[in-house]
Amino acid sequence: MTAPPPMSLLAELTHRCPLQCPYCSNPLALEPKNNELSTEEWLRVLDEAAALGILQVHFSGGEPMARKDLPELVRHAARAGLYSNLITSGVLMDRDSLAKLADAGLDHVQLSFQDVDPKQAEIIGGMKGAQPRKIEAARLVVEDGMPLTLNFVIHRLNADRVPAMLDLAEELGARRVEIAHTQYYGWGLKNRAALLPTRQQLEATEKTVAEAREKFGSRLAIDFVTPDYYADEPKPCMGGWGQRFLNITPSGRVLPCHAAETIPGVVFPTVREASLKDIWEKSKLFQMFRGVDWMPEPCRSCDRKEIDWGGCRCQALALTGRADAADPVCRRSSDRGVVDAALSEINGSSDSFVYRRYGSGE
Ligand code: FES
Repeated sequence: MTAPPPMSLLAELTHRCPLQCPYCSNPLALEPKNNELSTEEWLRVLDEAAALGILQVHFSGGEPMARKDLPELVRHAARAGLYSNLITSGVLMDRDSLAKLADAGLDHVQLSFQDVDPKQAEIIGGMKGAQPRKIEAARLVVEDGMPLTLNFVIHRLNADRVPAMLDLAEELGARRVEIAHTQYYGWGLKNRAALLPTRQQLEATEKTVAEAREKFGSRLAIDFVTPDYYADEPKPCMGGWGQRFLNITPSGRVLPCHAAETIPGVVFPTVREASLKDIWEKSKLFQMFRGVDWMPEPCRSCDRKEIDWGGCRCQALALTGRADAADPVCRRSSDRGVVDAALSEINGSSDSFVYRRYGSGE
């Protein structure tokens, strides 16, 4: 299948980061600094992205502000006509560094928060004093007039504070907030037993989000990403494999999603050896699960096959050992039992007690 040009590029500039979140979407094996693409290589890649028809570039990491050449890359993206978004923890941002990025033409900032409670945030991020720096970064972005999105990754340890997260987003002047449940691959899968929320927490969060949408109206847009283990149908991961999105790792490997390197027996193309256009259109990796021809049953005869595109390949691999299996989140998958087992472990691990009752005959 041939694909139209991708819409977005996630540029993972570095895996270096002052934080250590246990649900990070980076791979378990992190890339060393001396393997990172040079400034010149990124400039060429940005030109190739624009020529391919990409509209948006998300500068990400690790912490992208750990790269000293970030303003230069942003300026180049702006000149190439790319809309630029900075995905940052905010802990390295100050008035001066933000001014340089704004001057270079940065369009948007997405700031990640680990919690609203500073102590809990430190337990997740592993960095002392991170929360006040993030709050300050948010204030600087809003003061500058740049649109700000806050991102909260939700899990069992912070789900009860979603109402306070939404209030903080409004108070800081964010235009958008993402209440995004942890996705379970890479570090998230490794820590799943501690992170998966209970059904009760999920229901409470859904209610909170619905009420907040009423309360805040157009002042604050709320994106809600559910933990798909609780769903009956899989998510259309990345909008379909190799259809809308590409991801470049710090050393230049080009991937259809951030977890694709977990797939065994595949050659990962790199911008050091081929153009983005060739990789997008011709590489084996991008064609592997593009469209519907690769699909097994029950996906192949499912009327949702061009809606969810078979779900997430990396989740299928992580949970069944086969990247070409149906995503086991799907109720029609013969592997759904592995997802239900994880859920019953969490929900059965007792929030409720069986009280001793005298005279019950036991
Ligand atoms: Fe790789 Fe979903 S994360 S396909």
